Amino acid sequence: MAVGKNTIIAIAGASASGKSLFASTVYQELVAELGGERIAILSEDAYYRDQSHLSFEQRTLTNYDHPAAFEHELLATHIRALRSGKAIQMPQYSYKTHTRTDETITVQPAKVILVEGILLLTDEQLREQFDITVFMDTPLDVCLLRRIKRDLEDRGRSLSSVTEQYENSVRPAFFEFIAPSKQYADLVVTRGGKNQIAIDIIKAKIRQLLAE
Ligand code: CTP
Repeated sequence: MAVGKNTIIAIAGASASGKSLFASTVYQELVAELGGERIAILSEDAYYRDQSHLSFEQRTLTNYDHPAAFEHELLATHIRALRSGKAIQMPQYSYKTHTRTDETITVQPAKVILVEGILLLTDEQLREQFDITVFMDTPLDVCLLRRIKRDLEDRGRSLSSVTEQYENSVRPAFFEFIAPSKQYADLVVTRGGKNQIAIDIIKAKIRQLLAE
């Protein structure tokens, strides 16, 4: 399927800053309005490296907030494939087993592709692929509270593992990699993933692109 000129919109920001809520709200509201044919959504987390060759204990030692944890080259290859009109098999990732599952999700090429993830704007080969960049500038204390709740409820973690990981990797990586990448954003969104004005601005831009 030829999709004409595509637009890739990246949504980055700290862990638990509301990236996936923002991206999925834009996606779902536009799909309800315009149908799902011309919009697709990808997650950087799906591109965490496969660690099935490592034991569970070894996997818990990985720094999941460092760029080396991601297979960004595969994500860039997939974005290029979607741009050229080819469907891709997006990997699926489990935060409980710290590796990919056996399943993949088929993503069809689309005119507008949303991608969300913590380190998207830190990688030059990815930045070259992005037409519009958004940074979720949610206060870190709000992110931390959300992260604790989510990791305990959804990701099978203990409070001590969450606090240790936060101090050792999540917080240092925010200051080393994520915060400096804000300079590459076209749009900085305050107040989290429910910022409806920012959602409406991105939706309006996408409607305009789809009408061209
Ligand atoms: N992570 C982890 N264990 C793994 C893989 C990832 O704890 N096996 C954590 C990393 O520490 C990283 C986070 O997952 O900080 C990345 O996911 P995050 O951005 O928090 O998830 P989203 O749901 O996309 O966040 P948001 O609330 O912004 O949508």
